[in-house]
Amino acid sequence: MVNFLIFGPPGSGKGTQSVKLAEKYNLMHLSTGDMLRAEIAAGSALGKKMSSIMSKGELVPDEVVIELIASKIDNTKNRAGFLFDGFPRTVAQTVALEKMLNERGMKIDSMLVLDVDHDELVKRLILRADQSGRPDDADPAVIENRIDVYRAKTEPIIDYCRQKGIYQPVNGVGSIDEIFGRLCDGMKTFLTR
Ligand code: AP5
Repeated sequence: MVNFLIFGPPGSGKGTQSVKLAEKYNLMHLSTGDMLRAEIAAGSALGKKMSSIMSKGELVPDEVVIELIASKIDNTKNRAGFLFDGFPRTVAQTVALEKMLNERGMKIDSMLVLDVDHDELVKRLILRADQSGRPDDADPAVIENRIDVYRAKTEPIIDYCRQKGIYQPVNGVGSIDEIFGRLCDGMKTFLTR
């Protein structure tokens, strides 16, 4: 199996592009943000505990998302690989993911990082706020906090992955189809099509 991280700040297009990439390459798309929002929508005990953290734009504890991902990895069949979206978000999560994959004879093959400037991120998230119903899109101060949290806690993963030779930057500004084409170019070393 071939395993990719799709990486970038809030609003960089990870979710939008993941859906298209997963379909094209038969990858299992795992978004921890989507999994957590599903817990909230279901009214589970976990969802109730996590919703106030998420609505402030802070990260939920590492062990919560590691557990969510672990529960999916062994239940995935007939896929060419995994596409991790919004996970990992800390170096500790990255180390945990590597361990989970290594124990199953796999690794992170490539990290595709969407590069989008600050003003474009804010513009996209404010535009989305009306339809998404996401409390973390509704308040510009929370959007700024999500970006700050990304810079402080998540971006250090880039250096970690660069040292492992798996970092691939991708220009994340342009039309959705243009960016999809760039990501497919980045993936074609690993997958044929
Ligand atoms: P998560 O759901 O991962 O949200 P995020 O990282 O803030 O990212 P978004 O979904 O907002 O943006 P995206 O990059 O996916 O862009 P999208 O394609 O949606 O996390 C939410 C929260 O959950 C976190 O804050 C945290 O609390 C918690 N959490 C999740 N995972 C965690 C983890 N591993 N550890 C700890 N906590 C975790 O696009 C955004 C908008 O832009 C859309 O409206 C889209 O239509 C539009 N758009 C996309 N591409 C383009 C384009 N090319 N041009 C114009 N508009 C575009």
